[in-house]
Amino acid sequence: SSDRSVEKEKTLAMIKPDGVSGNYTDGIKMAILESGFSILRESIVQLDEDKAVTFYAEHSSRTFFTSLIKYMTSGPVLVMVLEKENAVADWRALIGPTDARKAKITHPHSIRAMCGMDSDRNCVHGSDSAQSAQREMPFFFKEMSSGTGIV
Ligand code: TYD
Ligand code: MG
Repeated sequence: SSDRSVEKEKTLAMIKPDGVSGNYTDGIKMAILESGFSILRESIVQLDEDKAVTFYAEHSSRTFFTSLIKYMTSGPVLVMVLEKENAVADWRALIGPTDARKAKITHPHSIRAMCGMDSDRNCVHGSDSAQSAQREMPFFFKEMSSGTGIV
């Protein structure tokens, strides 16, 4: 079918604790669907310290790491697998730059501009590459490990 001719891609999206507690979930999901993504999976998760440290391991030497882990474990997050053509880059574009304070000026319609505070509390996460997505999706959705035939 014509649908088959477009190669789709998947990415991991997360609404961080301030996004969930601030009631941005419905607005963010609406923006996701309006932008042409399908939501293949979703789950509300309370990260413990171990899980947050593993998820953000690449940043473990950064000065902000301790506060990042405290923030990410401060309440439940909503993780989702999104699918569309060019999903990784398009989701990163929709969420906007890391520093939500700058996003409000340079990308006022981005999700981080809408619900983030600054670079520490930026409301949402998106995989930064297809390779990161392949690590991050099975981190939360075990059946999505490559080799299961489900991905
Ligand atoms: P980074 O990979 O630079 O940003 P992005 O989420 O856009 O890929 O950083 C990962 C997370 O680390 C970021 O979303 C929030 C946190 N962080 C801070 O708390 N303070 C900072 O100064 C930076 C750069 C990131
Ligand atoms: Mg990153």
